[in-house]
Amino acid sequence: MVKAVVLGAAGGIGQPLALLLKANPLIDELGLFDIVNTPGVAADLSHISTPAKVEGYLPPDDGLKKALTGSDIIVIPAGVPRKPGMTRDDLFKINAGIVRDLATGIATTAPKAFILVISNPVNSTVPIVAEVLKQHGVFDPKRLFGVTTLDVVRASTFVSEIVGDLSLAPKVVVPVVGGHSGLTIVPLLSQSSHALPASFSKDQLQALTTRIQFGGDEVVKAKDGAGSATLSMAYAGAEFAVKVIRAIKGETGIVAPSYVHLSADKASGDALKKEIGTEVEYFSAPVLIGTEGVVEIKPLGTLTEFEKGLVAAAIPELEESISKGTLFITASK
Ligand code: NAD
Ligand code: LMR
Repeated sequence: MVKAVVLGAAGGIGQPLALLLKANPLIDELGLFDIVNTPGVAADLSHISTPAKVEGYLPPDDGLKKALTGSDIIVIPAGVPRKPGMTRDDLFKINAGIVRDLATGIATTAPKAFILVISNPVNSTVPIVAEVLKQHGVFDPKRLFGVTTLDVVRASTFVSEIVGDLSLAPKVVVPVVGGHSGLTIVPLLSQSSHALPASFSKDQLQALTTRIQFGGDEVVKAKDGAGSATLSMAYAGAEFAVKVIRAIKGETGIVAPSYVHLSADKASGDALKKEIGTEVEYFSAPVLIGTEGVVEIKPLGTLTEFEKGLVAAAIPELEESISKGTLFITASK
């Protein structure tokens, strides 16, 4: 039996994500928590003829606790999205506290669940969750994931557009590593499963890299004040959540890129630190997932000089965001 829970389930991401999870037959129970509207969302989804039993919860009467009880996997898209002109870090002021409070609920009610963090800024919100779990003595780095799947989904789509065949998009695999914001998003296009055209110039490579790094801005701008990516994020979040569920259920060989604490597997985490030449604590890389969570963090492999430069450029911002998230909890003890 698998119980999945969405925290922030009535939002722009939360609703379509809950729909995709409800549509997945691997899920037996779906808990929906938000500060508004979850009874309606749950009632609506509950009419869909798939196995998952859906319940909606609001904060009164221990709603968060009830939603989290018995959960195996918790996906968190709670929090405010960007408007044009904002960085993801501008969301920290509001979202850090929201994520901290939800993590506290998880620590006390569902400390063994797999936690998938979507709320931005992911580079900082994942450390926030980790520090809350540490304070409660229940941090298991193998079970905490920052969701970076949207960057991977975008890379697949944009490469297939350039190759000239969008029908390839679901099959194109491009590792995207680092973190989830601007320059910390590092696409390794030299490792694309589908090669870029031989005529692809340096300028075109730079433009494609920038488009993947700033794909989020493209959507924020197009939505013109109405928020950021929701539908593509719900698709990406469901893709990643379902991979984790398949791994929990015992399927082997499941690899997905995710932003993890590098102690999640010490040997491969240390090897990755050596590879990137820094002691950074969190990094997004393809991760092998098993029944107990992270089994191995995969190496980045051979990088071009251009990609080495992208990794080097990502580290300072990544370190700053990690430290900001960590201090938000440790400095307020
Ligand atoms: P939204 O405003 O449409 O929805 C957010 C939901 O969170 C709302 O329903 C709100 O009521 C709820 N919420 C607020 N405080 C809460 C709390 N304390 N407990 C439970 N729920 C609470 O926003 P959205 O477009 O769904 O985006 C949500 C977050 O996801 C944003 O921070 C956004 O930046 C982020 N995001 C991340 C990625 C990624 O790739 N990781 C992609 C897109 C968006
Ligand atoms: C994205 O990449 O679309 C999200 O992180 C949302 C945003 O703020 O861009």
